[in-house]
Formats: sequence, C-alpha cells, structure tokens
Amino acid sequence: VTPRAFGHAVRSLWRLAENVAFLNHGSFGACPQDVLRVQDALRRDMEAQPDVFFRERIMPRDTETPLRAVARELAAFVNAPGDSVALVENASAGTQAVLRSLKLSPGERILVTNHGYNAVRLMVEAKCAESGAVPLVVPIPIPTTAEEVVRLITAALTPDVKLAILDHITSPTALVLPLERIIPALKANGTRVFIDGAHAIGQIPLNLAALQPDWYVSNAHKWLYAPKGSAFLYAAPDVAVLTQPNVVSHFVEMGFPHSFDYTGTRDNTAWLAIPAALKFFGELGADDIWAYERTLIETCSAAMTTLGATPAGPVDMCAAMRTFVLPQSRAAQPADRTILMQNLWDRERIQIAANVLDGKLLLRVSAQAYVEEGDIRRLTAALEHSGWPGR
Ligand SMILES: Cc1ncc(COP(=O)(O)O)c(C=O)c1O
Repeated sequence: VTPRAFGHAVRSLWRLAENVAFLNHGSFGACPQDVLRVQDALRRDMEAQPDVFFRERIMPRDTETPLRAVARELAAFVNAPGDSVALVENASAGTQAVLRSLKLSPGERILVTNHGYNAVRLMVEAKCAESGAVPLVVPIPIPTTAEEVVRLITAALTPDVKLAILDHITSPTALVLPLERIIPALKANGTRVFIDGAHAIGQIPLNLAALQPDWYVSNAHKWLYAPKGSAFLYAAPDVAVLTQPNVVSHFVEMGFPHSFDYTGTRDNTAWLAIPAALKFFGELGADDIWAYERTLIETCSAAMTTLGATPAGPVDMCAAMRTFVLPQSRAAQPADRTILMQNLWDRERIQIAANVLDGKLLLRVSAQAYVEEGDIRRLTAALEHSGWPGR
C-alpha cells in the first residue's frame, strides 16, 4: 500500500459508520475487519470446546502456550525480552497492577504531570489515600517545549519521589514527552519509572531496551489496531518479581508474567488476535502510515492556524495526533468540552476529542490511515461557520 492509497480508499478495511468524519482514533481505537474476523474465529473455537481452549491456549504451564507466544511476539515488536511482557486488558488495568504492587510509605511522593490521564490521576489519589504517600503534580504549561518539560520534571525531583508516572504521549495535549532525556534523571534520583504509553504502540517506534523504564504499559487496541481489551505491561527484571496481577488466581505462584495469563474465566480472544493486528499493521507499513499521518497533521495544523488556534506543542513533540488551543474571549469552563464535542457530533457528524486544561479549550485531532484531507476540511469548515463555546 502506498501512502496515496490511504484515506477513504482504505476506509472499508474498517467497520466505521458511513458519513462520519472520524477524527478520534485516539480515544478507543478502531479495529480493522480482518482482525475482527480472526477474533470471531477464535470466539467460535472458545465456545466449541471451552475446556480445550482455556486449558491448552490460555492457562500457563512450564512449556509455551499460544497466549505466551502472543506476548513474546509483542515483546519482540517493542524490543523487550519475551518474558518481560504480561498481557492486560487495558492501560488502566496495567497501571492499577503496578500501583498495587509497589509499597509506598507515608510522605513518599508519586510524581505525575497535569497532562496525565484522569483515570490514572484518580488511581494515584486512591493509592496515596491508602498508603499515606503524596502526589507531586508537575505543572507543564501550554504550549510547551521538550526542553521545558525536561527542565520542569528534573527540577521537581527530591529524594522522597519514589515513583514517577509519565505519559509517553499525553492524552489531552497529544505531546510525545522526551522520555529518553527524563528517564535517566529519574533513575539517578532513585525514582521508579512507570511509563503510561497508552497511545504509543503503533503510533511511534517503541524500543524498550533503549528507553529502560521500570514498567511500561501500552494499549494494542488503539494504534496497533488490535481488538478492544488488549494491552501489555512490561516489567524490568528487578521489578517483575514484585509485580502482581490485579486478581490473585490459581497461577499467582508462577510469578510475572505467567500470573497474569489466567485470572479467572474471561474472553481472551482480543489478546490472541494481536498477531493478526501486527500483521495488518505490517502490511499497511509503519513508515507509510506514519508518513501519511504526518502529512495530515501538517495540513490540519495549517488550517487550524488560520482559525486562530495554536498547537499545544512544537511539531517535534507530535506524532499522529495534535492538540490545538482554541482562542476564547474568556477562560474555558469544564462544560465547554462537552458542548464542543456534542455540537460537532450533532450538527456535523464529526467525532473528535476535546478537553479543558489550564483554562484552555483543547481540541485533539487524530490522523489515521483511513482519515483524509476532506475530513480535516470538514472540521475546520464546521468550526469556522459554527464557532465554539466562548469564541
Ligand atoms: C494516557 C492514557 N492513559 C491511560 C488511558 C486508559 O486507557 P484504557 O481505557 O484502555 O485503560 C488512556 C486512554 O485514552 C490514556 O490516554
């Protein structure tokens, strides 16, 4: 597939509803038909012979299982050792597993930024309430630069910062954080590093051997095109020994990652369909997808700028999503987010993510292989003629 063949020419490879400008791949992903067909076949196998399915394909044992083979294939894709990767349902579940595995004492700090994901913030607050640890929220201005992010995070470090949770790509602002410059500073401070890479796998090249986090979670169901409910949790060897699944079950004694493989009866077919997603992704071609998405983001940036909107960060912090600050005559209010998203959906059938952060109204555009320039034009035309809250 050449980049020219992307856009609506390939849209039928997905099951997206007709007549929708779908500019929000970032929130939940969209799974291609080929991958869903593989998942359907797996479901048929599961229901035809449940015992064989769970005992032979899922439950861990001393020898390789089909589920472990999937984890190994995914691990190889992100340049990590096969047994350093556990399969989890989503980034939320992986984050919860890390937080419940790490012991913290009163007064110790968990460093996060104000660009972190809301559910992760709530998990950190719950962990702090139960352990006496304290969140340390580093405010990152909008717009910002990679330089500034490195400076603000390293300046916030003190000996009591025991854990840092940083996004690889921030959710509201879609910024790729310069982790290769931040992680060494965190480690030198004796801080454990958990990277929330919910948006990373499939959106940017991922090399965990080079990055060297303690833990890393990423959703295969967003940018890697896997079915919903498929993510991985990487743990470095020295923290793997203490990393436990959220549900203690039969195989807990086997330790990480096997203890995550079976934690009660559930539908594991999303995980088993990950190789089909990797195949689909490989056939479209990572470099071609990323080049195409970059072109769309450039087109979008130019069009949004003519509306007076400004990007949340420089182009070197941007991958397949970009967030724009919409100019307003007043500070943004929490309700502006819902009104903007609802209006674009109700009036124009445009699906997009909006947020309010730091008194700013943010609009996050996701490029993807099935998006084309016409979808972007539809968005900017809608914004131009209908406006937005507080314009
Ligand atoms: C940065 C970040 N972390 C975590 C999540 C949660 O992902 P999930 O809903 O798959 O658990 C998201 C979802 O968009 C996210 O953007």
